[in-house]
Amino acid sequence: MVSVRRAGAQDAETISALNADVQAIHAEALPWRFKPPGPETFTPADAVALMATPNHLTFLAEVEAAPAGYAVAEVLRRTETGRHYAHETVYLHHISVRPAFRRNGVGSALIAAVREAGRAEGIEHVALDMWSFNDAARRFFQSQGFRLYNERMWTR
Ligand SMILES: CC(C)(COP(=O)(O)OP(=O)(O)OC[C@H]1O[C@@H](n2cnc3c(N)ncnc32)[C@H](O)[C@@H]1OP(=O)(O)O)[C@@H](O)C(=O)NCCC(=O)NCCS
Repeated sequence: MVSVRRAGAQDAETISALNADVQAIHAEALPWRFKPPGPETFTPADAVALMATPNHLTFLAEVEAAPAGYAVAEVLRRTETGRHYAHETVYLHHISVRPAFRRNGVGSALIAAVREAGRAEGIEHVALDMWSFNDAARRFFQSQGFRLYNERMWTR
């Protein structure tokens, strides 16, 4: 049984440790850009700072009290400008599930918690970006109802 709750400063070490899995995936695929996980990549102090950043929501998923995954999202409220109407989005910055717990609904439970938190703020719209190499993440996000809406290109 997976349960998801909002994380607090007392969970900083856990969130820091959970980040290593996604950091490793990024470092393996883009080693010139991402450092391999180590003591300095996403420290408990970094986790505390991120959790304390205004409008950021951090979620911890547990399976029978064992940390299984986490997510960090941001509530973005953009005011109207000359070019854009006002719009609001919950933006997913981090999501990662421990390898041993994958394909058991933990990621889905984290997305559900993010959506619910958005709805509590009156926001239905959730957005994210992901690296193009990450086919597993793409299929996961598609399973959660996300659709491609923007593309980036580079010359590398
Ligand atoms: C992406 C990730 C968060 C998914 O978490 P999860 O707990 O395994 O996801 P769920 O069990 O809720 O999966 C729900 C559905 O998503 C799809 N899905 C998830 N992982 C998939 C994979 N590796 N390949 C294909 N489809 C996948 C499936 O449809 C799955 O349903 P099913 O298991 O009944 O077939 C997890 O694989 C992960 O942590 N990956 C590494 C970190 C990462 O890449 N994060 C995203 C960076 S942007």
